[in-house]
Amino acid sequence: MSEPAAVSRAAAVAPAPPAILVVFGAAGDLARRLLVPALCNLARAGLLSERFAVIGVARQDLDEEGFRRSLARSARESAKDTAAQDACAPDVWPWLSRRLYYVRGDFNAPDTYERIARRLREVAAQHRTGGNVLFYLATPPGLFAAVARRLGAAGLVRQENGWWRRLIIEKPFGTDLASAQALNRDLLAVLGEDQIFRIDHYLGKETVQNIMVLRFANGLFEPLWNRDHVDHVQITVAETVEVGRRGRFYDATGALRDMVPNHLFQLLSLAAMEPPSCFNAAAVRAEKAKVLDAVHRLTPTDVRRDVVRGQYGAGIVEGKAVKAYRDAPDVAPSSRTETYVAMKLMIDNWRWAGVPFYLRTGKALARRRTEVVIQFKQAPLSLFRDTPVERLTANDLVLHIQPDEGASLRFNAKIPGPSVRADGVEMTFNYRDYFRSAPNTGYETLIYDCMIGDAVLFNRAEDIEAGWRVVQPVLDAWAEDPDAALPIYPAGSTGPPEAEALLGRDGRRWRAL
Ligand code: BG6
Repeated sequence: MSEPAAVSRAAAVAPAPPAILVVFGAAGDLARRLLVPALCNLARAGLLSERFAVIGVARQDLDEEGFRRSLARSARESAKDTAAQDACAPDVWPWLSRRLYYVRGDFNAPDTYERIARRLREVAAQHRTGGNVLFYLATPPGLFAAVARRLGAAGLVRQENGWWRRLIIEKPFGTDLASAQALNRDLLAVLGEDQIFRIDHYLGKETVQNIMVLRFANGLFEPLWNRDHVDHVQITVAETVEVGRRGRFYDATGALRDMVPNHLFQLLSLAAMEPPSCFNAAAVRAEKAKVLDAVHRLTPTDVRRDVVRGQYGAGIVEGKAVKAYRDAPDVAPSSRTETYVAMKLMIDNWRWAGVPFYLRTGKALARRRTEVVIQFKQAPLSLFRDTPVERLTANDLVLHIQPDEGASLRFNAKIPGPSVRADGVEMTFNYRDYFRSAPNTGYETLIYDCMIGDAVLFNRAEDIEAGWRVVQPVLDAWAEDPDAALPIYPAGSTGPPEAEALLGRDGRRWRAL
């Protein structure tokens, strides 16, 4: 007997249905640092079925015992620097370890898939998992289409007798609009759209999900959340990390492709969407997609005026000396890849017409900070004309996504004393003051939701393409203008001055990092 096809996470906190998770790229960084700790956290929370198992697939020459040992080792190491603290402690690890299997193979060789099919039958019989299988592509992106095609050819994604077969696919999903469309075509040639779960790990973050709750579970904000009251919106994803050892990937990618059509646009669409009719995947995803469809398409002139890029030079980040991006391993010494991008976007709909959305993201910046700022319009000053009040602080609502999770609201208050003077004060909500949070890598929710068939936190083919459609004119304009200036900002700064000028021109300023 199969389980019900889809349960909403909103309602379910029961263990996920029995299933086998097949991880392609099981010896890689993602699997070790995030997936295994996430499985440990899920197991600890009682959210995995007793009838659950994992088959890792990779090219490394390991036997099953060696595979388990190497995962245990890296899970322990990653527990030191991720939110997975003690997730792999003795109460959980033996439980999971008993359910870990390994298939060695080349992802392009048909016989690998025969071995996977055989192992699936054996493991399903041993753990009584039934026929539900979740394939997780934690491979280099160049292999996504090939693995899906081979899974299809081997009959492994056929859903029979009420059992589901699902595929989780990681980012980067394409490198531009055409390649994203091609990948969608390749996937949809072997799987139904409802079998494909495209991950954006930002949607696994509690505070990102909270944007919807904050907006739609409170009567206070929504009436103000529009062009009548909002002056502009700022979305910042600032990182202190430099390119590190990811030079090969990053130099061919850059900040725009790496962060904007995915993570920043998730924040943008959650902040700007209309209220969905209910909290299910179809309703939420349709509203998010409408936002991206309504973003005003940038012309080459818009790109030159409204999009700023930069690359970090040498500097000091959090007290540590950082070499220039061009001196990082696997980065071309004359690289013109941007490590910073800022842009102004307009959303052409009734709610947002005339309200600029300023987005910025960069590496090797002064501080790590992800936040969405809703800047409200200034109150009229006229009432205070005969007082010492010369200016009023504009109200802003800041959604703090990371690292300090919460929200804060700034408003004016009277400075105590005989004369009428005002100053901006802040009301702050910190997650940690109200809620005890369980160790979390962000992947727990995503794996669990996929197993219960709740697609609300995953992207449809058209959502991915809608993001690339907004970004494509920028890629095109940059490609046509290869000699355009590329400002260098010192590592540890807040980015290139051109980004300040982008807002300065409109009489606005970025919130301090
Ligand atoms: C990844 C990007 O998708 O997101 C990285 O490839 C980036 O370059 C990372 O550092 C940021 O994620 P987080 O969760 O640390 O904000």
